[in-house]
Amino acid sequence: LSAGEISIRKAASSDVESIWRLLADLGYGDQTLSTFEETFRTVSLNSAISVLVAEAGDRIVGLASTSHRPQLRLGGLLVSLDEFVVAAEYRGCGVGRLLLEGVKAHARALKACRLELETNRVRESYKRGFYVKNGFTEVNSAVLRIDREELEA
Ligand SMILES: CC(C)(COP(=O)(O)OP(=O)(O)OC[C@H]1O[C@@H](n2cnc3c(N)ncnc32)[C@H](O)[C@@H]1OP(=O)(O)O)[C@@H](O)C(=O)NCCC(=O)NCCS
Repeated sequence: LSAGEISIRKAASSDVESIWRLLADLGYGDQTLSTFEETFRTVSLNSAISVLVAEAGDRIVGLASTSHRPQLRLGGLLVSLDEFVVAAEYRGCGVGRLLLEGVKAHARALKACRLELETNRVRESYKRGFYVKNGFTEVNSAVLRIDREELEA
């Protein structure tokens, strides 16, 4: 697989099942396809969310979704890379790098102040320094959360 065989484009509604499968590869396989179709519709209608896919021939082999919002402290837009995955058989061929280039171009077009991502340190990509090799700098922030069960308790 060479870079010329991959195209990066905005996701279309016909990509929904491929995207659902890729998210399961990433470890998020809880939604049924029909629930996910509804989620995808909601996301597609949100102008602050952008979903890019990587296509090899007629197959969707990668996904990068971002969201953006203005931040008081930054005086401008923060873009978050929310989901990022390449199909297992296509990893290590440059698809992830091309998707990240698409994401960076999107952030640039928005004149964003910052592009950031959150990832689990046990992931192979983190351990192999994938993000640093692609221009990201690791910062010393902790991620804290409250999930629905606790919120509603
Ligand atoms: C992280 C990921 C999106 C990168 O895409 P990719 O197309 O494999 O990356 P590229 O081919 O452009 O770049 C190669 C780099 O990706 C990483 N990589 C390559 N194969 C990998 C694999 N099987 N698993 C994890 N990372 C891999 C390495 O850092 C590699 O660089 P190195 O060979 O110098 O160590 C992809 O490997 C993936 O989907 N991994 C599993 C899911 C994941 O970790 N997603 C990010 C969560 S935030």
